[in-house]
Amino acid sequence: MFRRFIYKLGILIMMLLISGCNNSNSASTEEKLEDSEPMIVDSHRGKTLMETNCYICHNPSLLEHNGRIGPPMIAIKARYLMDEPTKEEFIAGLWNFLDKPDLEKAKMKGAIEKFGLMPYQPFKKEDIEMIGEYLYEFEIEEPVWFKAHWREIHPNRAYRNQGKKVVSSKALSAGEIGLTYATETKKVLGMKLMGTIQKQGLKEALSFCNAQALQLTDSMAASFGATIRRISDKPRNQLNKANEAELKHIGYYKSAITNKHTLEPIVEETNEDVHFYYPIVTNDLCLKCHGSIENDIQPDLLSEIKSHYPEDMAVEYGVNEVRGIWSISFQKDEKKKPE
Ligand code: HEC
Ligand code: HEC
Repeated sequence: MFRRFIYKLGILIMMLLISGCNNSNSASTEEKLEDSEPMIVDSHRGKTLMETNCYICHNPSLLEHNGRIGPPMIAIKARYLMDEPTKEEFIAGLWNFLDKPDLEKAKMKGAIEKFGLMPYQPFKKEDIEMIGEYLYEFEIEEPVWFKAHWREIHPNRAYRNQGKKVVSSKALSAGEIGLTYATETKKVLGMKLMGTIQKQGLKEALSFCNAQALQLTDSMAASFGATIRRISDKPRNQLNKANEAELKHIGYYKSAITNKHTLEPIVEETNEDVHFYYPIVTNDLCLKCHGSIENDIQPDLLSEIKSHYPEDMAVEYGVNEVRGIWSISFQKDEKKKPE
């Protein structure tokens, strides 16, 4: 981690040296920045909000097609800046779409074709304004393939991404990274599960879990460059069966819940990689498919479950019990990524 940070810092200093004259050339963005504002800051709330709320689907990962859930944020920034808005207009444009995404308001028809319309999520207006300010004023991370991709679609029109920079003064710890992967994946799975239950009912939700749960965790994993698995000591799908080390961790979390201890991630590091474990705990919703056969699971749903999973063990749970763990591994210094 630390090495990577130093490496990034080096690149940044180099870029500053090279582009030093560019800045005084004052392209239109830089003119709009107040002179007194520093060009490099060590944090911006909009960046953090963007990374937690939008990067599940809009992260700047290496993947160009398969495994992406949405376009990288730079694609959105570039497209929304094509209309040459002021900062206020840019922010208002984002909110106009996010407040209630619909096909008529959408500008990115190609993205809709590829990924489907962005699902509605209840964002706070202040948060979107912060994110908008960050996107407008700052240079944001873009995937290496993006420039060529944009040139294909808009051969005669460059996009703009220069601006202020955030240089974070502290790198995330391995535990923090693992936890981000787990919570982000959980959010996406949870959102799809809830959405399907609400719109189409439990049976459809069951086939969603059956057909897509593994696929979705895999695609999240691919976009993070990590391995992400949901593991259980009483698995429904035998592919999710715990190994010996994982069984030990599950046992640990079970006793932690019984003894009302806080549930902290378990992080095991070697020189090269990080293994991260975090409990998956049941709530009311889970019981509809993982609860008591007598009282919680509808009989027709149960027979459906049995037909897909003849060896199913994942029943008879109550609320606030350890259903399993996230088992996540990733490499420490991301050699794969040409930064
Ligand atoms: C669950 C996935 C998901 C999350 C989370 C998400 N988006 Fe999106 N978003 C998409 C997809 C898919 C598209 C491409 C289809 C489209 O344009 O509607 C998209 C498109 C967009 C567009 C372009 C809409 C258009 O076509 O004009 C904007 C703007 C946008 N997202 C902003 C955000 C912001 C800001 C956040 C975080 C606060 C965010 N999104 C979080 C999935 C997501
Ligand atoms: C609509 C039914 C349904 C609901 C509701 C549901 N699950 Fe599942 N769950 C499944 C199915 C089906 C699988 C097997 C997925 C597969 O084949 O990969 C599964 C698998 C899992 C796994 C992977 C380990 C295993 O047993 O294969 C975990 C962990 C899990 N569920 C936790 C939860 C939690 C926690 C909740 C509540 C937040 C929940 N589930 C709600 C149907 C459901």
